[in-house]
Amino acid sequence: MFDGVAPKYDVVNDVLSLGQTHRWRRIVVDAVDAKQGQRVLDLAAGTGTSSEPFADAGVNVVACDFSLGMLRVGKRRRPDIDFIAGDATNLPFADNSFDACTISFGLRNVDRPTRALEEMLRVTKPGGRLVIAEFSQPTVALWRNLYTEYLMRALPAIATKVSSNPEAYVYLAESIRAWPNQDELAAWITQSGWESVRYRNLNGGIVAVHRATKPEGAITSTAAGSQTRQRRRSSRAAN
Ligand SMILES: C[S@@+](CC[C@H](N)C(=O)[O-])C[C@H]1O[C@@H](n2cnc3c(N)ncnc32)[C@H](O)[C@@H]1O
Repeated sequence: MFDGVAPKYDVVNDVLSLGQTHRWRRIVVDAVDAKQGQRVLDLAAGTGTSSEPFADAGVNVVACDFSLGMLRVGKRRRPDIDFIAGDATNLPFADNSFDACTISFGLRNVDRPTRALEEMLRVTKPGGRLVIAEFSQPTVALWRNLYTEYLMRALPAIATKVSSNPEAYVYLAESIRAWPNQDELAAWITQSGWESVRYRNLNGGIVAVHRATKPEGAITSTAAGSQTRQRRRSSRAAN
């Protein structure tokens, strides 16, 4: 699906978010707080629009995504950024190899999001940071109702005019509605092994930016990770 929408992805995003994406991306960069020379993984980076502000600030950012269509559009536009094809649930990176991991508007699209949270933990150095920007739930009922109307009615109608693949935007609206709220996502992050989990609502909760830290003593090698997962599966089966 993302291969199909890649050529016009960024323009359509700007239109449908009513120009808000630039502000959201600045807030993510500030939250990651990467210093020059640090290595940051931008996961589900798509065309690299979420990676660009890091590259522009002199941060060594790696843009990873599994849609070759999105990566090709990104590489054409920003040949200076490292674009790597990889699956968020089985990352092609060594343990403890990034100072920070971030994922913008991508975790919701990953087939097994908690597996991706564990993989980001594995590749992040102890003490390193996680920043997730994702659509969430407006906290005030009136605002939530207006936004739901926009999502389910106006957004697909606008997408029909500006996108070559309007069905992708029906999926977008439905996936936002099905996604856990701020507190539920915070619980997933904690259960995946991250600590000091907190979040900030943007635009009244339309978007939430979650932050967390990898514990200093975390053992998250691939082998340890799969043993932990195996143990969890066995205990679930036993229950
Ligand atoms: C909505 S786009 C976000 C792109 C970019 N981060 C941004 O902010 O514009 C979501 C991206 O998630 C990617 N994606 C979904 N599942 C993935 C997975 N398992 N591994 C890697 N990328 C994935 C898609 O290919 C798509 O490019």
